[in-house]
Amino acid sequence: MSLPLALRGLFQEAAWHATAAPVAEAVLDAPAEDGAVLDVHVRSKRYGDRSVLHDVRLRMRPGEIVALVGASGCGKSTLLRLIAGLDTAYDGHVKVRGRLQDAPSSDVGFVFQEPRLFPWCSVADNVAFGQSKAAGDGARVAALLADVGMTGRERALPKQLSGGQAQRVALARGLAGQPRVLLLDEPFSAVDAFTRMKLQEMLVRLVQHHRVAALVVTHDIDEAAWLADRVLVLDADSGRLHRDIDVPLARPRERTGATLAAARAAIFESLRDAHAF
Ligand SMILES: Nc1ncnc2c1ncn2[C@@H]1O[C@H](COP(=O)(O)OP(=O)(O)O)[C@@H](O)[C@H]1O
Ligand SMILES: [Mg+2]
Repeated sequence: MSLPLALRGLFQEAAWHATAAPVAEAVLDAPAEDGAVLDVHVRSKRYGDRSVLHDVRLRMRPGEIVALVGASGCGKSTLLRLIAGLDTAYDGHVKVRGRLQDAPSSDVGFVFQEPRLFPWCSVADNVAFGQSKAAGDGARVAALLADVGMTGRERALPKQLSGGQAQRVALARGLAGQPRVLLLDEPFSAVDAFTRMKLQEMLVRLVQHHRVAALVVTHDIDEAAWLADRVLVLDADSGRLHRDIDVPLARPRERTGATLAAARAAIFESLRDAHAF
C-alpha cells in the first residue's frame, strides 16, 4: 500500500475527504528564502455555510516546535488535515519545501491522539507499513525504534504494549517517511502525567535529531509552554489566529522558572480573550 493510501486509511473521516472537490490554488514557488520548510496560508476553510478557518498564516523552520491551542471545535484538527494534504477543499495554499501539498506525501508525517496501530501487525511492521522499500527497510525501522526506546520489541504486537509504548511506536511511524513536517493532534492526552512528560522529552529529542518542523495540537497549557518555541492561539468564533506567543527558552528546559511561568500566563490570558470565559 502506498503512503498516501496508508495515511488516508488512518483517518476515520477518509470517506468524507474523498468526496471533497480540490479547489486549493495551484501555485509552485521556489523554496523559501527565510529557511521556512512549511508555508501555510488558509484564506478560508468552510464546511457548508460555516466558516471554520479564516486568514490563517503559518511558517515553520526545520527543528522548530509550534503548539496550536484553542477550544474544542475551533478548527485545529481541520488545519492539520489541510496541511497533511488530506483535505484540499479550501481557499489558500500549503507548501512544504516550496511544493504545493495538495495530496498526502512522505514530506508530512502524522501522529494522532490514539496510536492507531494495526493490531495484527508487529511493532516493526506497523512502523514500515505503507512506506517505500527504502523507508521500510529493516535497518531504518530498527534505527527509528531505537530513537523511541523500543529496541527489542520489534516483534511485539500492539496488544502487548502499554499506552505510552504504543504512542512511541506511533511517533516512530510518523517519522518513517523522513518527513520535513510532523503533525501531532493531541498526541499525549490519553496517557498519565509521568508518561506524558517522558513523551514530551522524547518528542523534543526526535525533532532535534530528525530536524522536522513539529506542529502539536494540545489542550494542555503547561505542555504548550514547555514544548514549543511558539504557541499559536486559534480564535473560537472567527477562525483567525488570535495570537502568536514566543517562548524564548533554550533547551533542555526546566519545568519551573519565571520565563516558563510568563509563557503559561500569556497563553492562559490569550485563551481567555479568544474564548471569552
Ligand atoms: N468533515 C466535516 N464536515 C462538517 N463539519 C466538520 C467536519 N469536520 C469538522 N467539522 C466541524 O468543523 C469545526 C472544527 O472542527 P475540528 O477542526 O475538528 O475542531 P478541533 O480540532 O479544534 O476541536 C467543528 O465545528 C466541527 O464540528
Ligand atoms: Mg481536534
